[in-house]
Amino acid sequence: MIGVFDSGVGGLSVWREIVRELPDVPTLYVADQAHVPYGPRPLEEVRRFAEGITHFLLAQGATVVVLACNTASAAALRYLRAVFPQVPFVGMEPAVKPAVQRTRNGRVGVIATPATFQGELFASLLERFARDVRVIPQVCPGLVEAVEDGALDAPETEALLRTCLTPLLEAGIDELVLGCTHYPFLRPLMERIVGPGVEIVDPAPAVARQVRRVLENCSAGYQPARPTFYTTGDPARFASALERLVGVEAEVRSLCWEGDDLRCVKRKT
Ligand code: DGL
Repeated sequence: MIGVFDSGVGGLSVWREIVRELPDVPTLYVADQAHVPYGPRPLEEVRRFAEGITHFLLAQGATVVVLACNTASAAALRYLRAVFPQVPFVGMEPAVKPAVQRTRNGRVGVIATPATFQGELFASLLERFARDVRVIPQVCPGLVEAVEDGALDAPETEALLRTCLTPLLEAGIDELVLGCTHYPFLRPLMERIVGPGVEIVDPAPAVARQVRRVLENCSAGYQPARPTFYTTGDPARFASALERLVGVEAEVRSLCWEGDDLRCVKRKT
């Protein structure tokens, strides 16, 4: 089973690519909506959440764990690989490499959360891939919350997006990297703002292909099963986001934090 997690609904933009790539493999998704947004939190705190969720996913039978969250990957991917050396992890990183390869004018914008830019993962991406290209990082306060609220096309969301994209457009970028898994759900709005001259780069399909490669190296066999969804927030709210964002109707189960551990509290349909 593939375990997938994010702070909220954003990781569904990765989950939908995983199920497109691997339709027969069971998935289990955890949304830590009790703690969303992760982005403004200290990296140590996000690492603690990621470790608790990983324990839960493994206890449920996950054989691969996907951090469908750039912030959690920046905070915890290296740490989790060290703590659980037997577990294959797939994480996210802003797709700086393909954007740098594709840019025609040498100017690339990256939008992500503050924690993603603070992590050493981003610094190492710049160091490895962006030597001759200007990569401009930009945070977008409020956007994750707008996606969580389902305000994908609201005038307030458009205003937030314009505020964060304007400096990048003024800098003349021709590639825009989506460094947060919530942002692909705002792509139609973004396309209207940036216009056809800017290519939007979402790493989710490449991450799904990576999950397939990792699974090919695992020996476990799978019984096809319906996906399972858990949230540490409100299950009814997550269920309606699930339908709205990825067109899936499913039971959503409730989880609750007890210290650093996650426990199933009740079942809800
Ligand atoms: N979707 C997440 C990411 O990719 C987390 C955003 C947040 O909770 O701030 O960074």
